[in-house]
Amino acid sequence: MSRAAVLRGLGAVVPPRVVTNDELAQRLDTSDAWIRSRTGIAQRHVSAPGTATSDLAVDAGARALKAADRDHVDLVVVATTTPDHPCPATAPTVASRLGLGTVAAYDIAAVCTGFLYGLSTATAAIVSGMAESVLVIGAETYSSILNPNDRTTSVIFGDGAGAVVLTAGDRDEPGAVLEVDLGSDGTLAELIMIPAGGSRQRLSGLPVSPDDTYFRMDGKRVFRSAVERMEGAARAVLERTGWTVDSVDRFVGHQANVRILATVAEQLGVPRDRVVVNLDKVGNTSAASIPLALADAANSGGLAAGERVLLAAFGGGVTWGASALVWPDISVF
Ligand code: COA
Repeated sequence: MSRAAVLRGLGAVVPPRVVTNDELAQRLDTSDAWIRSRTGIAQRHVSAPGTATSDLAVDAGARALKAADRDHVDLVVVATTTPDHPCPATAPTVASRLGLGTVAAYDIAAVCTGFLYGLSTATAAIVSGMAESVLVIGAETYSSILNPNDRTTSVIFGDGAGAVVLTAGDRDEPGAVLEVDLGSDGTLAELIMIPAGGSRQRLSGLPVSPDDTYFRMDGKRVFRSAVERMEGAARAVLERTGWTVDSVDRFVGHQANVRILATVAEQLGVPRDRVVVNLDKVGNTSAASIPLALADAANSGGLAAGERVLLAAFGGGVTWGASALVWPDISVF
């Protein structure tokens, strides 16, 4: 017997409003053909006015709890780039709105790697005995931080939330989180950034430029770094699990760009038909991306119990990570 964090339930939600590439092309100098060919994205979901990240997080969290048939966890972790407020964290609000009482609850800020960072802290809490059960939620309302005039970011990101319940179990069980490899490189912080709103800008004594209040990204450099780091983290996890690349049934990478996913898979040697892709429907949903992709695959027959799943992500910070598990026979709501 070896204690492990085991996946017991998965929930996912996207807001109902769909924004197509053609709709964006009506107000931005872009086209459906450019967006599809450069990113693989055909549409994304956008929250209605008045909807915040915690609203999506509560919905996804409730679905995951229902899928796991639980009404209690010891810890709630919310990974997000778009908290309801700069202060306090969003997780305590989410925990109390889910009826989870006074459990420990905190946010993780690792941008698009947020879900894997959350999975890692949840796994550590369970394996150490600090917690028996954890709800990990990746939730984003990127529509709140995108510059509506910036065609390089507006076409890429979407809103959504995904959540998993993990409880203590055995490493030999399907669903056990077998390995997590994480990394960061703060020398590349400027590649993905909202320049204003934090202490750096607020204490600068300088006036705020409106553009600096929005999310910005150096797409080309992010692309190169993402490929290199996702591949490296995935290789580290494969080595530690002892899995060969051939034995990986599903590669579920952060849904940033279909060309990033294809390049990472090609460099690893994972065949294209084993690469899970749902970004055509939801865009890049950052911390929500991996659980949304898992839910989409599980619900559409693209992921079955017993399959070996390799996860990898890259995000602002810059941060990256990978993980591995055998897909369990769980409900997905
Ligand atoms: N519509 C039309 N043209 C656009 C455009 C858009 N939405 N966005 C950029 N362009 C233009 C650029 O201005 C540039 O024009 P120029 O050649 O006249 O200067 C041209 O298209 C090529 O831009 P470039 O940035 O070289 O394109 P690219 O092939 O690198 O694709 C990204 C841009 C953003 C799609 C790509 O770099 C990318 O996906 N990067 C990773 C982003 C990501 O996934 N981030 C999240 C990771 S966590």
